[in-house]
Amino acid sequence: MNVRLLTSADLDGVMLLSREAGWNQTREDWARMMALTPQSCFGIDCDGRVVATATAYCYGSELAWVGMVLTAADYRGRGFARATVQATLDFARSQDVAWIKLDATDMGRPLYEKLGFVAEYAVERWLRPPSPAAAATVEAYRPNPELDLEAFGADRSSLLASLAPIEAASAGGAFALGRPGSKAAYFGPCVSRNMDSTAKLLDWYLSRHAREQVFWDLVEPNPDAFALARTRGFAPVRRLMRMVLRGRAWAPPFVERPELVYALGGFEFG
Ligand SMILES: CC(C)(COP(=O)(O)OP(=O)(O)OC[C@H]1O[C@@H](n2cnc3c(N)ncnc32)[C@H](O)[C@@H]1OP(=O)(O)O)[C@@H](O)C(=O)NCCC(=O)NCCS
Repeated sequence: MNVRLLTSADLDGVMLLSREAGWNQTREDWARMMALTPQSCFGIDCDGRVVATATAYCYGSELAWVGMVLTAADYRGRGFARATVQATLDFARSQDVAWIKLDATDMGRPLYEKLGFVAEYAVERWLRPPSPAAAATVEAYRPNPELDLEAFGADRSSLLASLAPIEAASAGGAFALGRPGSKAAYFGPCVSRNMDSTAKLLDWYLSRHAREQVFWDLVEPNPDAFALARTRGFAPVRRLMRMVLRGRAWAPPFVERPELVYALGGFEFG
């Protein structure tokens, strides 16, 4: 089996795979991932098509995020995911990355456990059906790298800069971004020190997407986010497990404040 790098020539193939699995990623999401990290989007071909993928996005040398781990249903159980995920780990280690994380589905978790990942905390996807939403006044988006670093634990500036032109706003130092999805508009990432600012950013986003389904991914260590989600008509649809693996033998502890993370940037980015 040959694990190879994916390129923009594979966009049709990976979108076919994504759609078969019912994933929310769009062609633009895949194209962005390939542009952001061209050396770590991996795939396996079989019978003339891409049948397995995995990506690793590095936040400097502090953290690598493994995502887009998917094998076409007819090709599962042949070691394809083990091979693509191993390629992401080899890449992360070649970059001397300290920590490697991912958000695992129940199907993916046994593989990650075999590779040495350990569970940290749950993350949940919540869904809001199309419904009216009151608008809120927010400010033009201003990056807040200090707040983001404190909350996420690694420098996400490049990723945030690539997402911000799509849809972004700030409120009292907090910020939220959004992007379209194949199944639902996606609210996140959102980082904030208080509920009031978060509520404004959420209402701003929901009022712009009242006719669509909206996905919002939340982290268990921030119960305020769950409370807010309930008040705006969201309900849980999926539960995943955040998992972590040491990248190199000596690494300083990974310091994050997930209680400030109101919305993930995506299961493929953390
Ligand atoms: C999870 C997924 C990627 C696994 O793909 P795969 O190509 O079938 O996995 P592999 O054949 O490489 O299996 C890797 C190992 O995990 C084990 N494994 C895989 N799925 C398993 C499951 N559901 N339960 C128990 N063990 C499992 C295999 O036995 C294998 O172990 P081994 O290497 O010691 O023999 C695939 O089921 C999938 O695409 N699921 C839907 C999308 C998804 O949930 N992706 C994960 C996102 S975090």
